[in-house]
Amino acid sequence: MNATVLDGGIGDLVALVSIVLFAVGLKRLARVRTARSGNALLAVGMLLAVVLTIAQTGVVGWPWIAGGLGLGAAGGVVIVLTARATRMPEIVARFNGFGGLASALVALALFWREVVEPAEATAAAALGAVPAGTLALSVVIGGATFAGSLLAELKLRGLLRTVGGVPARAVVMGVLALAALALAGASLFVLEDATWAVATILGLAAVSALVGLLLVAPIGGADMPVVISLLNSLSGLAAAAAGFALGQVLLIIAGTMVGAAGLILTRIMCTSMNRSLVAVLAGGYGAVPAGDAQEYTQVTSSDPEEAAMVLEAAGSVIIVPGYGLAAGRAQHAAAELAGVLSARGVDVRYAIHPVAGRMPGHMNVVLAEADVPYEQLVEMDRINPEFKTTDVAIVVGANDVVNPAANDQPGSPIAGMPILEVEQARRVFVIKRSLSPGYAGIKNELFERDNTVMLYGDAKGVLDQLTSELQGAPV
Ligand code: TAP
Repeated sequence: MNATVLDGGIGDLVALVSIVLFAVGLKRLARVRTARSGNALLAVGMLLAVVLTIAQTGVVGWPWIAGGLGLGAAGGVVIVLTARATRMPEIVARFNGFGGLASALVALALFWREVVEPAEATAAAALGAVPAGTLALSVVIGGATFAGSLLAELKLRGLLRTVGGVPARAVVMGVLALAALALAGASLFVLEDATWAVATILGLAAVSALVGLLLVAPIGGADMPVVISLLNSLSGLAAAAAGFALGQVLLIIAGTMVGAAGLILTRIMCTSMNRSLVAVLAGGYGAVPAGDAQEYTQVTSSDPEEAAMVLEAAGSVIIVPGYGLAAGRAQHAAAELAGVLSARGVDVRYAIHPVAGRMPGHMNVVLAEADVPYEQLVEMDRINPEFKTTDVAIVVGANDVVNPAANDQPGSPIAGMPILEVEQARRVFVIKRSLSPGYAGIKNELFERDNTVMLYGDAKGVLDQLTSELQGAPV
């Protein structure tokens, strides 16, 4: 390894600055107001870490490093530029998966360099027992995260809605865990023959990918938020394990931070869904019961003209955004309607459910894009007691997060999940294109309540019509 200017004191200082930037950046991500600058700090911290690592290690020549960086950066830019903003949740899932894959590949590359090329000893003898163990962990967690995230992406895209329960899943998982343990032990601690060692560690990667698929397969419907946050956490843990194997402190710290932040998010998601993590991972929730009737008998619908007349007389309005608002890119239209209502003296707020949309914080992100003032966004716990004194709740493309079945029907896939109790408002307008179900795939009896009126249509179109009706109305 060549000595560089970043070895020793200056290198330590750069590492320290990078770690501080990670810590401060993560902290700032916790608040909508400071999230943008937090993201920028994290990007600078990551750039410093990458430059430092490359300058200090010199494992391969600069052309390889530049080529890899160029390829990765170009791929990232293409993905982000070609993806529609509505595809953001799937992109987040894919990036979690790529994080896991990168860690597993780093561990495999280390195995190749230290064990296969010298072909002299076992990985445990070449690296030490603990680094060899963490190398195995990186392959296992990274492989499982990669495969699980790809499956999660397919589910988020709606290409794979329900992968039913896998027969005797617990037994299969147990057998796979034992197989993984045996393969890790053989490849890292026993086999000295390079060919066999490579074959077994690749077997370990394959078994890990199977575990990832089995972990995510039976979890569906409304419980997906828990899986997404858990995969995010696992991608960090895989990186931290690779950091231990390599002896790279920066990677250990960055990976641990992602792992810890992901675990906190997983806990928040479990609380939001009123589920225990074990129960979600065991599967069973989220499956739509056979014969779940989707037929509706007594639904009242109306049009924006009549709805605007009700809004003209309202003193308080709560807008309830859901996935359809993001999918229909209706956030600007919602903000415009809110502006017109506020100008008429109406008290307007937005009710934010923690799992509305398809990724954590989805509604906050899309509404921030429309410059909705942060103080108008009210979290579920604080807004729920307000519905009973509210004149009108306007549900825009939300379904599962306002489904009273969560409270009324113990057998429902979303039973026990806290919901936004919009049905308590004097009048509820639900804007969506049809009576189709939301992500959980179940009927929503809110649509049949006496005080609910459906406004069928694309979210943006209906909101625009409401705004223009109100603009033409006398104050
Ligand atoms: P959903 O229950 O998924 O309902 C969305 C509704 O939006 C649909 O019923 C759809 O009805 C309507 N819609 C779609 N496009 C529209 C458009 N252009 N204009 C108007 N309406 C449109 O959404 P939600 O209430 O936000 O609940 C989120 C669900 O996703 C929960 O079950 C949650 O657990 C799950 N989930 C969340 C996450 C995270 S991390 N937040 C991740 C994965 C899954 P029409 O087709 O009739 O219009």
